[in-house]
Amino acid sequence: MNIFITGVTSGFGKQIAIDCIKNGHAVIGTGRRLDKLTALKNELGERFIPLAFDIGNLDELNTALAGLDKAILHNIDVLVNNAGLALGLEPAHQTDMNDWQTMINTNTLGLAQMTHAILPFMVAKDDGLIINVSSTAGNYPYFGANVYGATKAFVTQFSLNLRADLVGKNVRVTNLEPGLCGGTEFSNVRFHGDDNKAKQVYENVAFITPKDISNMVLWLISQPKHININRLEVMPTMQTFAGLTVFKG
Ligand SMILES: NC(=O)c1ccc[n+]([C@@H]2O[C@H](COP(=O)([O-])OP(=O)(O)OC[C@H]3O[C@@H](n4cnc5c(N)ncnc54)[C@H](OP(=O)(O)O)[C@@H]3O)[C@@H](O)[C@H]2O)c1
Repeated sequence: MNIFITGVTSGFGKQIAIDCIKNGHAVIGTGRRLDKLTALKNELGERFIPLAFDIGNLDELNTALAGLDKAILHNIDVLVNNAGLALGLEPAHQTDMNDWQTMINTNTLGLAQMTHAILPFMVAKDDGLIINVSSTAGNYPYFGANVYGATKAFVTQFSLNLRADLVGKNVRVTNLEPGLCGGTEFSNVRFHGDDNKAKQVYENVAFITPKDISNMVLWLISQPKHININRLEVMPTMQTFAGLTVFKG
């Protein structure tokens, strides 16, 4: 299969790319960091095609896709919309507007544009699977999630709406909704490079790992074509959605 994965330079995307190649698939993998993509190309070889662009920059995205061999672009079997980020964990009134804009551009606009670019080819061959990496942050509020959670709620509703539009077609859509995952750069990015703060998020918790996520993606890919997994919400056993708060002033 031809598998297009956004955000393969670290975390989930990297592990998914490695495992897809191991399983005999071809992977088109994206990210902004060319050095990481080049290292992955050296590791994964012929069946890995790196594409460097900022998914939040629609001109860059379109130029990168236009440079891809048409025979490949028109024959993507699986699109994993994984690239995304959280920036900051401050209450809404103390955040940086630039961070909000970056999250919106990356997590919603970039993901929508990737889908818009590739979906017509899947419909034309009446075959394809889109896996959108959303988050439990799109389902349940938590302190400091403000715009990040809202972008993931967009991803979730977008996945469900795609399912509605694709009625009668053999193009499948799955919304993957992980809770707390470690072993990625997610928290280092969220805390603007403060590794100590990032480390504390995962202390004494058996979190979901990139390998766990990759296993889920491989399982989704292996489902028979008449099965659509609509949503897959996953948390570590030690995380729950309990957390209603009453402030007693
Ligand atoms: N970790 C968690 O707890 C968790 C939980 C639920 C959902 N998620 C979601 O899972 C996805 C992957 O997260 P992760 O934990 O694997 O984080 P990660 O290690 O930071 O990986 C994020 C990936 O996205 C890429 N990316 C970010 N901004 C980009 C941009 N503007 N243009 C192109 N690529 C960009 C990064 O590549 P470059 O930096 O090279 O551009 C990187 O490859 C994200 O959508 C995240 O929201 C994570």
